[in-house]
Amino acid sequence: MTTENKQRLFPVCTQNELNVLNSKEFVLYQNNRPYFGFVVQKGEEIFAYANNCPHQGRMLQWKPDRFLNKDASKIMCAAHGAMFELHTGICDAGPCVGKQLNSLKCVRENDVIQIIL
Ligand code: FES
Repeated sequence: MTTENKQRLFPVCTQNELNVLNSKEFVLYQNNRPYFGFVVQKGEEIFAYANNCPHQGRMLQWKPDRFLNKDASKIMCAAHGAMFELHTGICDAGPCVGKQLNSLKCVRENDVIQIIL
């Protein structure tokens, strides 16, 4: 008997929902446990990360679905202001410079953003 590691797709939001603030949070349930994450977009590209700051493990959002700084050029943690690159999740300013958000695989199909776990 073999154990297969099957990937699963989890729809988390539509492109229209993501367009409102350029970021959107989600929670998925795996084995009855919540998994918190968020999606951001930069131009046509989308990126997804676990909602867990590498500084002190807090959630990053300022308000529901708000993860970006004023000009939407960086992900910004609400707790102590760490700034992360949108496309890599690497912190380039603040208390955890050089650390990185945990990235998640994501795809867009028919305007639905899906996370691959
Ligand atoms: S917990 Fe995010 S910067 Fe401190």
